Amino acid sequence: MGFDLKEYLKEKQRLVNDALERFLPPVADPTRNLVESMRYSLFAGGKRLRPILCLGAAEALGKDPELCLPVACSLEMIHTYSLIHDDLPAMDDDDLRRGKPTNHVVFGEAMAILAGDGLLTEAFYVLSNHAENELINPTKLLEIIRVISEAAGCRGMVGGQTIDLESEGKKIEPSLLEQMHSRKTGALITAAVESGAVAAGADDEARKALIDYGKHFGLAFQITDDVLDVTGDSEEMGKPVGSDEAKNKSTFPALFGLEKAREKARFHVNRAVESLKLFDDKATPLRELVKYLLKRKK
Ligand code: IPE
Ligand code: IPE
Ligand code: MG
Ligand code: MG
Ligand code: MG
Repeated sequence: MGFDLKEYLKEKQRLVNDALERFLPPVADPTRNLVESMRYSLFAGGKRLRPILCLGAAEALGKDPELCLPVACSLEMIHTYSLIHDDLPAMDDDDLRRGKPTNHVVFGEAMAILAGDGLLTEAFYVLSNHAENELINPTKLLEIIRVISEAAGCRGMVGGQTIDLESEGKKIEPSLLEQMHSRKTGALITAAVESGAVAAGADDEARKALIDYGKHFGLAFQITDDVLDVTGDSEEMGKPVGSDEAKNKSTFPALFGLEKAREKARFHVNRAVESLKLFDDKATPLRELVKYLLKRKK
């Protein structure tokens, strides 16, 4: 009723993009190539879902989401680093991302590795240097850093990427596939809503509800990503289709077929919506955002 998701996303994307501009280091010699390479991928046109989830969680709890912008930007920097490295020849070996040639195609492999390293580390610089304000005190900030670093590293995303690579060409158990998706994609998405919850001073019940939402959002998101890799349009998505099959990846469609994969995505979307039942209208953006996953084309 009266809520326009498209407008909401546009407005929040603008906020995040402006903040990223403010936080990034300047392009200057002698590290001009490095910063240009970081900026190339960061501003290539991502959906900004993880930052928007962080802002949306703070908003659901009645707090000013703009006070979470440094946290939101740090999440997008980590996510962008993960995409640069995910596309490298040693990993998924893809040449199109966010509608443009991948970072290593333009800047070379060595600079792409360094741009990823730079973005990952810059995320924690931005957090420690800019995230303290009238909403986020040092105790909350330390907790946010713990949540995000746990999700991004070997316990979360990097661990998930390891399972992904080591599962190529194999038929893995459904439980391992789910763990892989939960870690490589779900962990950072969950950290996005959880960090917004910590910033907003959520009590245990609200924080747990938002974590549940994030976990189901993350699974639904990666399942729909796998489905789009089969059924999507490369131009619309800004990245290749058929990449998973070419690399013999373990995915939901490969293991269960497209229809069952779509059904599992619907299940997780419904569970995510249910997780928000204790929240009022202020959680409308989070509700609408997860429902949109079933319709997304990119
Ligand atoms: C792509 O993430 C990588 C996955 C985890 C599937 P997004 O689909 O959020 O990519 P951008 O940020 O919009 O480019
Ligand atoms: C990537 O999963 C997950 C991370 C980058 C952590 P995918 O390999 O499926 O992502 P896309 O399809 O290349 O965006
Ligand atoms: Mg991958
Ligand atoms: Mg990939
Ligand atoms: Mg994919």
